[in-house]
Amino acid sequence: MGKTGKAQAAKERALSLVYFKDLTINSASPQKTKEAGRLFARILEYGDVVLLGGELGAGKTTFISGTAAGLGIDENLSSPSFTILNIYTKSKLCLVHADFYRLDGIDDILNTGIEQYLGAKNTLTFIEWGEKIKDFLKKDFAQIYFEYNLLDKNARTISIKGSGPAWGKKIIKLGKLLKNAHFGN
Ligand SMILES: Nc1ncnc2c1ncn2[C@@H]1O[C@H](COP(=O)(O)OP(=O)(O)O)[C@@H](O)[C@H]1O
Ligand SMILES: [Mg+2]
Repeated sequence: MGKTGKAQAAKERALSLVYFKDLTINSASPQKTKEAGRLFARILEYGDVVLLGGELGAGKTTFISGTAAGLGIDENLSSPSFTILNIYTKSKLCLVHADFYRLDGIDDILNTGIEQYLGAKNTLTFIEWGEKIKDFLKKDFAQIYFEYNLLDKNARTISIKGSGPAWGKKIIKLGKLLKNAHFGN
């Protein structure tokens, strides 16, 4: 390997470390979680897929409602547990909010029609209990995990990670936005 090849390899190694770094947010209230979701909207690109995990009541829907608000969707987001897929549109943008809590197995999941939305043009797809579809995804995606804080009923820990270089860059950008918004992460 020549000198430039080595330098390039070192650069790629350094970048890959950055790309797979998790971002952890401590949220002190539902409002803070919503605000984090609103900032998250600013790093998104059409076609993005985001999987959300964590126990019931951990804050997944609250976060997505912030993202929807950040995208300019005025409707109140409700939990789609019973309807499974909710679709919101704003001019040319489509936000798909799915909740796979009640579904087991890939057949049930694919029967929802989710496939047509994954990575589709002008579409952002957010899936609660999304780890159930993880192995089926062909492209890069982000994962957000919500955890209760045993010492404070209004606090949550939100961990965000993305696969692939594009998500790595977006997560770095999100870190800057959170810092500017004085999030204690
Ligand atoms: N820091 C927090 N972030 C998000 N939700 C919180 C927080 N503290 C308390 N809560 C409450 O927890 C519940 C979260 O509900 P929801 O967002 O629907 O959860 P999930 O979609 O994960 O089941 C709401 O009742 C909300 O008011
Ligand atoms: Mg929910």
